[in-house]
Amino acid sequence: MNAYGPPGAIPEPSVPPGAPLPASPDEAVARWRGLLAEAAPRHVLLEGFHALKHALRFGAVVPVALCTDRAGTLELAAELAPDLGEVLARLLVEVDAQAVSALVPRPHPTGVAALAERPAPAAVAAALRGERRTPVVVLDQPRHLGNAGAVVRLAAGFGASGVVTTGPLDPWHPTVVRGGAGLHFATAVAPLEVSELPGGPLFALDPEGADIRGLALPDDALLAFGSERHGLSAGLRARADQLVALPMRPQVSSYNLATSVGMALFHWASASGAAPA
Ligand SMILES: C[S@@+](CC[C@H](N)C(=O)[O-])C[C@H]1O[C@@H](n2cnc3c(N)ncnc32)[C@H](O)[C@@H]1O
Repeated sequence: MNAYGPPGAIPEPSVPPGAPLPASPDEAVARWRGLLAEAAPRHVLLEGFHALKHALRFGAVVPVALCTDRAGTLELAAELAPDLGEVLARLLVEVDAQAVSALVPRPHPTGVAALAERPAPAAVAAALRGERRTPVVVLDQPRHLGNAGAVVRLAAGFGASGVVTTGPLDPWHPTVVRGGAGLHFATAVAPLEVSELPGGPLFALDPEGADIRGLALPDDALLAFGSERHGLSAGLRARADQLVALPMRPQVSSYNLATSVGMALFHWASASGAAPA
């Protein structure tokens, strides 16, 4: 399911409309630099083959994609993503490894890097605020970029409607996008204040709550998780309809944030007809 289309619709992977794709290494590098030099940059870095693959599958618009071994990358695509072979053959421009290193802080071992347009804020807001058939995950003041990326990946896999963060962490930070393996395009990802959270019953995960095994989590639930260091904030607790606990032995203080999200989504999916088959 794509986050921004009708439920169940998977868009055809396509190249962006408008300007023709860059054909030569020089054109590709110039387009890359031009897009990142925009006054208000609208593009996010996709690092590696799998991030590009996922982003394209879920409808990302990719105006430039670089690789250091075009033949090898297309072979990988034939093996792992035959659905994208044609699109990747049109998109990928081979450049030398030095050129990639000059553009990308940590080149990926697959030698692939691309820029994708961030979804329009209005489309993200509509996906979060419209009628929802699956939960939204709320990360309250998360600190760890890798955790946030892992949560986006979980949300995409379970078909969750979105991942919302409160606090200063940017959920579109390149490290979060890398951790999410390009799956930001498969769910609606946005930073919001607690006061701006979408409607729906809010279940806040906390070891002091009611045992999750006795609860059915509704499809329109907000599932909220506290920060790695401090747990749930007072503001989030005040908005919560119920505190919910994951089973845990005494003397273990807590689970990791992303694994907690995985367990809660699994619990929802186990009982919901709206979860992926
Ligand atoms: C690493 S924990 C936070 C630990 C933090 N030191 C605290 O005081 O709560 C991150 C988040 O994962 C969730 N979590 C971890 N273990 C949990 C459990 N046993 N039951 C419910 N939620 C849990 C909670 O939302 C928690 O705020």
